[in-house]
Amino acid sequence: MPRRLTATQRRLLTWADQAGRDLPWRTTRDPWAILVSEVMLQQTQVSRVIPVWTAFLRRFPTPAACATAQQSEVVTAWRGMGYNRRAVNLHRCAIAITEQHGGQLPTSLRELQALPGIGPYTARAVLVFAFEQPVGVVDVNAARVHARLKGHALTNAEVQRRADDATPPTEPWRWNQAVLDLGATVCTKRAPKCGECPLTAECGWRAIGYVAPDPVENSAGIPKRQSTFEGSDRQGRGRLVDALRRGPVSSRPVELAVTMGWSDDADRAIRVAMTVVADGLAQWEQRTETLCLA
Ligand code: ADE
Repeated sequence: MPRRLTATQRRLLTWADQAGRDLPWRTTRDPWAILVSEVMLQQTQVSRVIPVWTAFLRRFPTPAACATAQQSEVVTAWRGMGYNRRAVNLHRCAIAITEQHGGQLPTSLRELQALPGIGPYTARAVLVFAFEQPVGVVDVNAARVHARLKGHALTNAEVQRRADDATPPTEPWRWNQAVLDLGATVCTKRAPKCGECPLTAECGWRAIGYVAPDPVENSAGIPKRQSTFEGSDRQGRGRLVDALRRGPVSSRPVELAVTMGWSDDADRAIRVAMTVVADGLAQWEQRTETLCLA
């Protein structure tokens, strides 16, 4: 390990060498494979991502392979991930990479963020995990680690600055994976396992005796509350897109309501189905009174 690392950095990296997770996207530096993993991981748990990521890359091994496919094929390959708009964005992203960047992912934050559907988090994750550039990655797990280390809630800019400052220039890849592992497995939202944490000596929240509120509350990058999936519009959207993956679906109100699981609320089914069309996921064919994947 290079000597320039601080004792704290060495402690976290040593911990991650032993306790870090073995995840398939950690064995590649292929920028497209990393991008796909990060878009999937944004809103879907690791265990669900692994099989879909593997199959997705077998089907679309390069941005060009994805760009030349129909959008409906990409949405079909997204099955099991939820938040299907991400598949539409990834397809548009593959087209932009192919048309504007010769089929290779760009290597600057500015160009990455200019791609469809790529925000600051995903752009930085690609910079670090594919190109090994020294920036800090802030997902919900990393944001929690940084807020607790500081000991109070942080703004967006503060959490990003702390993540950037903490990243050792010599080991950006290992460091950021280690922070994500720590947040996902030790510095968890509920019942953190402080007895296993390699950074207790640096922990600001611990230093003040874990007084309430937990620094993650009201911190940037941390959603207030997971909205319930059961009974949500998103659940109906998911049912509709799942049905569309198998083929066209009747857009007649009563049948659409059954497809979306709201047999007693056709108005809601139509309203929510229209958002699926507006998002560019589905098309409505008036003549045959059907919806199909766009
Ligand atoms: N969540 C987001 N990015 C991740 C990664 N590279 N490994 C594990 N979980 C993640």
